Amino acid sequence: MLRDLYNRPVRDLRISVTDRCNFRCTYCMPLDEYEWIDKGEILTFEEIARLARLFVQLGVEKIRLTGGEPLVRRNIEALVAELSELDGLKDLCLTTNGSLLAEKAVALKAAGLRRINLSLDTLDPDKFRSMTKRGDLEEVLKGLFAVKAQGLSPIKLNAVVERGVNDDDILNLVEFSREHGFAMRFIEYMDVGNTNGWTSERLVSKKEIFERINARFPLREVGRENGSAPAVDYEFIDGKGEVGIVASVTEPFCASCNRARLTADGKLVTCLFSSVGHDLKGLLRRGLTDAQILDFITSVWTKRSDRYSAERLEALQASAYDPKSHKKIEMITLGG
Ligand code: GTP
Ligand code: 5AD
Ligand code: SF4
Ligand code: SF4
Repeated sequence: MLRDLYNRPVRDLRISVTDRCNFRCTYCMPLDEYEWIDKGEILTFEEIARLARLFVQLGVEKIRLTGGEPLVRRNIEALVAELSELDGLKDLCLTTNGSLLAEKAVALKAAGLRRINLSLDTLDPDKFRSMTKRGDLEEVLKGLFAVKAQGLSPIKLNAVVERGVNDDDILNLVEFSREHGFAMRFIEYMDVGNTNGWTSERLVSKKEIFERINARFPLREVGRENGSAPAVDYEFIDGKGEVGIVASVTEPFCASCNRARLTADGKLVTCLFSSVGHDLKGLLRRGLTDAQILDFITSVWTKRSDRYSAERLEALQASAYDPKSHKKIEMITLGG
């Protein structure tokens, strides 16, 4: 079985289907303009489906579609339909900002999508607008309830917590998710990309997030799904659902990281904080066989030694961390 240098298999594949996004979240991509990938460089659905099939042969069991914003890619439901038929794939999901969900919910459900994760950092419309720069909370909530009405489950809500910005929204979001049966997840603010101006002062730690929730709604730890998910899950002691916390900064989970990423232009990226990817599109377009492409992916994964968040924590503890010292691929290109 395929293993990297730390004996980690490849189990999850996060596929970015476009780098475009109709939001500009300040923690992800605050720039109005960006060097977008040329249309001709973007993988076709056929190319994505072929690579997905090869990754499944290498051990991938779960595929997540991301962006940018995956729903801005035209006819995305056709790709969902194709991937949902893949033999050996156990889980197919999508991470979205929700802005186009209201119009896509029925088509996505019909295509075979069973669950989604949706970004929701606040329930205050003005703050929502200022955090996303272009987003309309009402549209997103419409989309959220449209997928709920289609029976997608679980529906997980992602909030990146930034001190002084939305840390006062934590309990409102928990109440909202408990009331409607969503699974709220709080995410430590990470130094992704090169433009979000991350500083550790703006970070709210998992410990603090936990304490704030637990004081109002007592929690019991459930753990990480499959032992390898980014989120540590907790259940409410009163039985009213679950909440998760993703603590990439203060409690890194690199040791069990089995995630590969594929960019919209066909690069295989072995860590969210990588500075380079490995070109798979070139192999596809030069006409290489499945066996040759499998060999290439195998050789990349076998040499993988990424543990960026673990190294960052060591550097933070030694007061020697400078987020600017390392050039990274932008989050909007990787989809988280
Ligand atoms: P589930 O399959 O529902 O557990 O989703 P997920 O948490 O794996 O994916 P989602 O797209 O909802 O991501 C939630 C947060 O976790 C985002 O902020 C991602 O950037 C972050 N995340 C996901 N995978 C990794 C990872 O391998 N490393 C780090 N550092 N963060 C990750
Ligand atoms: N820190 C943590 N999570 C982030 N995301 C985007 N930028 C950041 C960041 N700086 C999250 C989004 C989305 C997911 C794909 O990544 O909220 O839910
Ligand atoms: Fe926001 Fe997601 Fe778009 Fe980044 S890709 S700007 S997190 S909506
Ligand atoms: Fe995996 Fe890199 Fe995230 Fe660590 S920082 S969990 S190696 S993607």
